[in-house]
Amino acid sequence: MSSKLKVVLLYGGNSSEREISIKSGRSVEKALKKLGYRFLSLDPIEKEKFIKKLISFNPDVVFITLHGKGGEDGTIQGVLDFLGYKYTGSPLKASAIAIDKAITKDIVKNYGVTVPDSITVFSKEEALSLSVDFPKVVKVATEGSSIGVFIVSNLEEYKKAVEEAFKIGDKVLIEEFIEGRELTVGILNGNPLDIIEIKVEKGFYDYKNKYFSDQTQYICPADIDKKLYKKIQEDALTVYKVLGCKGAARVDFLLKENIPYFLEINTIPGLTDHSLLPKAAAYRGISFEKLVEEMIKDAVR
Ligand SMILES: Nc1ncnc2c1ncn2[C@@H]1O[C@H](COP(=O)(O)OP(=O)(O)O)[C@@H](O)[C@H]1O
Ligand SMILES: [Mg+2]
Repeated sequence: MSSKLKVVLLYGGNSSEREISIKSGRSVEKALKKLGYRFLSLDPIEKEKFIKKLISFNPDVVFITLHGKGGEDGTIQGVLDFLGYKYTGSPLKASAIAIDKAITKDIVKNYGVTVPDSITVFSKEEALSLSVDFPKVVKVATEGSSIGVFIVSNLEEYKKAVEEAFKIGDKVLIEEFIEGRELTVGILNGNPLDIIEIKVEKGFYDYKNKYFSDQTQYICPADIDKKLYKKIQEDALTVYKVLGCKGAARVDFLLKENIPYFLEINTIPGLTDHSLLPKAAAYRGISFEKLVEEMIKDAVR
């Protein structure tokens, strides 16, 4: 009986997305209680305590609800591989590739997925020596939750964004600005869910619009011509497969003139009850608890 499995739930961590991880973790905690799992919640921020408690609890599966560095980038996956524990979501290699938006785009464009053009730079000097036209997107390669994403429309904003970006990371994309519809495709255990369109009231889908705005609208299924709808789901699945993802993931696109531009894949999508993947699952009649259960089942399979 799967409900007798012992689960360690990880949330918190020390990435810039710690707060979101805690929100996701608390939602999963509630679901695990309802589902009757024996579980222990741990925050890997306290390394020694975490390892000791993990080993003494000896779970059948580890549920990872960490976002960003340390949790979504292969680090914790490597620790768990080494210790011999099964875990939810993508393996080490897929996680380590997916966290880097530049490497991911370079790979998937070889598989028929369209991506916005970009140049990758490794220093402020390199960024400032480019001759760029506007608008552009300045984006830290390895962050999430729109942290380190700047949309700039003139040289002054560009310089400021470059300055800010290199405070956050040491690899930055200078990306073509795509004026398009914001779409996301959740994938659950290798099956694409329905497409969600996100409509923000003001600006772009930044941190504030993601987590705090009541004005952001979510439309599922997105109103898109059938053939194109399928193509977008297929692109999402291609990215997931090519990288070697597992379990739940979420793929972001911008749709412009009937071309879906792939932005990134999230290997640990948000799991708060307002998050996008749970919304898409709900549309299929998959409750939050069921979603959590499916993710666990896939991890132990
Ligand atoms: N090339 C682009 N053109 C226009 N808007 C973009 C572009 N890249 C990102 N954005 C906006 O920034 C948001 C966050 O970018 P994304 O690449 O998905 O990074 P993350 O979600 O990891 O912060 C997108 O959802 C979109 O609203
Ligand atoms: Mg995104």
